[in-house]
Amino acid sequence: MRAVAFSVFGGPEVLEPVSVPTPRAGPGEVRVGVRAAGVQPIDCAVRSGHRAPGFPIERPHITGGEFAGVVDQVGDGVEGVEVGTEVLGFRTQRCYAEYVVVPADHLVRKPPAMPWAVAGGLSGAGQAAHTALEDLGVRRSDTFLVNGAAGGVGTVAVQLARAAGATVLGTAREENHAYLRRLGATPVAYGDGLVDRVREVAPGGVDVALDAASEDGLRAAVALVADKDRVGTVASVDAWERLGARWIAGRRSAERLGALVGLWSSEALHIHVRATWPLEEAAAAHHDVGSGHGRGKVVLLVG
Ligand SMILES: NC(=O)c1ccc[n+]([C@@H]2O[C@H](COP(=O)([O-])OP(=O)(O)OC[C@H]3O[C@@H](n4cnc5c(N)ncnc54)[C@H](OP(=O)(O)O)[C@@H]3O)[C@@H](O)[C@H]2O)c1
Repeated sequence: MRAVAFSVFGGPEVLEPVSVPTPRAGPGEVRVGVRAAGVQPIDCAVRSGHRAPGFPIERPHITGGEFAGVVDQVGDGVEGVEVGTEVLGFRTQRCYAEYVVVPADHLVRKPPAMPWAVAGGLSGAGQAAHTALEDLGVRRSDTFLVNGAAGGVGTVAVQLARAAGATVLGTAREENHAYLRRLGATPVAYGDGLVDRVREVAPGGVDVALDAASEDGLRAAVALVADKDRVGTVASVDAWERLGARWIAGRRSAERLGALVGLWSSEALHIHVRATWPLEEAAAAHHDVGSGHGRGKVVLLVG
């Protein structure tokens, strides 16, 4: 099958098209012909070798942790999924490829109306945001601050909090402020003076905060929220402990992904895809995501 992989750590240019054996679905597994695979910051970190990823690096290594496609092989013992079913799902690595094999409980049905790019980009950031809202207990009476609100995680966190009835503030660059307003958040510029700017727009205070971008933003969140147990980060891996915040690791499951799909179907969740690239041009997608800036998701299209 066709895939994109790297054989040495480095910049986006180390990603190259490869031909590798097509995997087969074993017992309890499903093989999916991939139509779209989302690109996440962790993919760039794995490629550059900067973060100990907690899974073996193969040579060549195919990265990518989320996908959407069509089931084309069903392993022994799998029920309720047939060849031809359109699905979206997740796995640890190997999604930048023509086919992925996953346990049957790592995917859910794709609504016919959901575009492939949206489906391919929902599993990773979406489930991280969903986990964060659950762990932080965001509710109707809360004023909730999201640092990095325009990104993949932030976009979903803002909308889940709005759906729960919370008042939401989000940090972003000026050019993303109109986007945040459309999602239902009050935009605030990040950088020096953030604490004062937030106090200006939220004179009643901030009850709960999620950092999805930067140590500076997490520090501001810790200064603003009285209950440190309600300050979480999915991003500031080197700072959360020192600053007294909570580390939040996304917990991915078919149930959680199904809940997100349900919200999308009821129009309570919009996934903005800012760019799509053919699989073979994954390097360009990594340049974009690796910049650390931008709205919503970048997705590879396969096939
Ligand atoms: N723990 C987990 O399970 C988990 C799961 C998924 C992702 N993550 C992590 O969460 C982080 C966000 O992921 P993502 O997919 O949302 O990334 P993303 O789509 O690249 O979004 C990052 C956002 O951060 C904003 N930003 C950049 N510099 C900033 C700063 N100094 N202060 C505040 N905001 C800033 C950017 O907005 P502007 O364009 O407005 O600058 C951008 O929208 C990454 O570190 C990723 O590795 C963790």
